Amino acid sequence: MSAQPRILIVGNAGQVGVELQRSFAGFGEIVGVDRESVDLAQPDQVRDLVRRVEPSIILNAAAYTAVDRAESEPALATAINDDAPRILAEEALRSNALLVHYSTDYVFDGTKQNPWTEQDTPAPLNVYGASKLAGEEALLQVGGRVLIFRTSWVYGPHGSNYLLTMLRLARQRDALSIVNDQIGSPTTSIELARVTHQVVSGVIAGKFGDAKEWAGLYHMTCSGSTSWCGFAQAIFARAGKLLDGKVPVVTPITSEEYPTPAKRPRNSVLSNAKLESRFGVRLAPWETALDTVIQALG
Ligand SMILES: NC(=O)c1ccc[n+]([C@@H]2O[C@H](COP(=O)([O-])OP(=O)(O)OC[C@H]3O[C@@H](n4cnc5c(N)ncnc54)[C@H](OP(=O)(O)O)[C@@H]3O)[C@@H](O)[C@H]2O)c1
Repeated sequence: MSAQPRILIVGNAGQVGVELQRSFAGFGEIVGVDRESVDLAQPDQVRDLVRRVEPSIILNAAAYTAVDRAESEPALATAINDDAPRILAEEALRSNALLVHYSTDYVFDGTKQNPWTEQDTPAPLNVYGASKLAGEEALLQVGGRVLIFRTSWVYGPHGSNYLLTMLRLARQRDALSIVNDQIGSPTTSIELARVTHQVVSGVIAGKFGDAKEWAGLYHMTCSGSTSWCGFAQAIFARAGKLLDGKVPVVTPITSEEYPTPAKRPRNSVLSNAKLESRFGVRLAPWETALDTVIQALG
């Protein structure tokens, strides 16, 4: 591997893609591609992209992430979340490139009382989760220098996400009813990119040995957990300045009171123990990470 790796960032306009582009600046020659450059639903375009760029590192931050819409577009979700990553993995294997890919807490059914580990059996409740699980399985089947990071409740200063939606709703309404019985770990795109960079730089430096010692699936979330309602309350508690003091009244409701096309897990908290022990890295507590994003917006 050359001293200056060529890094292909697929989905560089998404929440995580933007932050990866920032984190990896200076680490190598970055080629970032968005939907304009490659349509991941077109297998030939995906293959051609990798063969043209010849990266030694591929960071795949692209995905079909519209959880509810996926229920009515399963073929498209599968093409982007399963078929496209499989081609990236095949191309990475062919050229011995490192492939980093992200997956989701929604591979689980939410019935466990404790945090989910990588050993737990996935049982997705919705099309999005099933398509992402199929993508994980494809990558593990192809093998090679592959890292899959399962994360959850991703948000940040850019893109389309829960935090920015809550701030918009707060400006429009005096009161909000928010689901209080789904528990997870809000995770910032900033923390994901920071820790991905730490892991990748260690892998490239040979710090963790051969691929057989580090390749595989890891959970990667901010620590701690809350409900969607608790997350909203934490946002409003910090965002007074951004909202000119106009903070809405929040009423907790159940999932049954807020029906959505896609069913979601009740408990999707992930254990990061494997990531921490293998790579010696740790993401910030979710409240601290939220402070950072609120400051970035302010
Ligand atoms: N968001 C979450 O809460 C969450 C939770 C758990 C795991 N994850 C995983 O984390 C990773 C990053 O998610 P994110 O939140 O950063 O997602 P995001 O903001 O929705 O970004 C995804 C990117 O993929 C692009 N994309 C979608 N379809 C495409 C296509 N056919 N061709 C080319 N590009 C396409 C999107 O482009 P357009 O904007 O043009 O559609 C977008 O730029 C994904 O693997 C996701 O599954 C996310």
